[in-house]
Amino acid sequence: MMNWHEDFPQLATSHTNGRYTYLDSGATTLKPTRVIDKIKEFYSYDVSNVHRGLHSSSNKATSLYEGARTKVARFLNAYSDEEIIFTRSTTESLNLAAHIIASLGLKSGDEVLLTEMEHHSNIIPWQLLKEKLGLIIKYIPFDDVGELDLNEAQNLITDKTKVLALCHVSNTLGTINDVEALAEMAKDKGAYVVVDAAQSVSILDLDVQALNCDFLAFSGHKLFAPFGIGILWGKKDLLNSSEPFQGGGSMIEQVEKENSTYLPSPQRYEAGTPNVAGAIALGEAIDYVQEIGLKNIYKHELELLEYATEELLKVSDKIKILGTSKTKVNVLSFIVEGVHHSDLSQLLDQQGVAVRAGHHCTQVIFKKLGLSGSIRVSLSLYNEKEDIDYFITCLRKSLEMLV
Ligand code: ALA
Repeated sequence: MMNWHEDFPQLATSHTNGRYTYLDSGATTLKPTRVIDKIKEFYSYDVSNVHRGLHSSSNKATSLYEGARTKVARFLNAYSDEEIIFTRSTTESLNLAAHIIASLGLKSGDEVLLTEMEHHSNIIPWQLLKEKLGLIIKYIPFDDVGELDLNEAQNLITDKTKVLALCHVSNTLGTINDVEALAEMAKDKGAYVVVDAAQSVSILDLDVQALNCDFLAFSGHKLFAPFGIGILWGKKDLLNSSEPFQGGGSMIEQVEKENSTYLPSPQRYEAGTPNVAGAIALGEAIDYVQEIGLKNIYKHELELLEYATEELLKVSDKIKILGTSKTKVNVLSFIVEGVHHSDLSQLLDQQGVAVRAGHHCTQVIFKKLGLSGSIRVSLSLYNEKEDIDYFITCLRKSLEMLV
């Protein structure tokens, strides 16, 4: 098994038991030294605002920032750099996508199709529009193993469907959704397709052309980059036909006392001073995963997931895994009958094991399952079999105390 453990300084920090077992990469990934160094380098030697000054350090910062945009465009196989908008997060990107689509002409009675496994960030922006415009929101259900029901999706997609918005990988169930097949159904009816790639970006090769979508969102912090930087990719003609989201400096062509004209994408959507260091560090993180190869990362995490699943099921017959699709990656959510997930996660934490506990911002899933939450183990390239073994040992110890 390959090993990238050494690239992540946080894993060397000491904990109560002398070992730090980070199994919460679904919430955020740790950061490799080279990304941390990149941020330090920018703030030590290259600070200047972008797209503003004519002096050489502003030109350098601008070229580093725009260079990062080019890296993201290539990473996603975008048609052009102008389709890449730097945002704050996946959440901001999905809100922006909803705004753009609404401004292209959504009206009362139009339908937005989501899935029952969406993160709140891909539900609430549409609910806000529903209140304002009178939209109808529908949900593609998932089945017992946590896969979307494609037959039901076909029934739900009608002439009234204007948007299909779905996650590529579920942050709670781990299922990899068949975005291409669903996008084809939606496109047949002329609907826009929005993909939340927050959970897939560090594992799967993202190709916006192959996915056949119109918008795709992800966060840097789930791709080994810092917090506060996100991406919205959108098709250029759509981006250039919509109204801006926020007004301010850098997004204008001409400002008059009464009216103004706006630049095209991406400037149209990047009002104000952007997160320059975040964008540059995201570019570095992309270089990092591309040097390793996403296929190698996927293989590593799948091997670990299979091992973790086998070992977990040996612990107790009171354990129930949520999401058992054959096409799943790096997420292992489970409950233990008779044990509250918060108590269990606290005991694990005391032994140096970080997992997420709760509803993982997917209450629609938990309400459907009649549960209040679960424990979620989520893996990344720096995890090793030793982490799983240690987690299982600590889980056994915790359950002895709780059951
Ligand atoms: N969406 C993130 C998670 O799944 C925060 O934990």
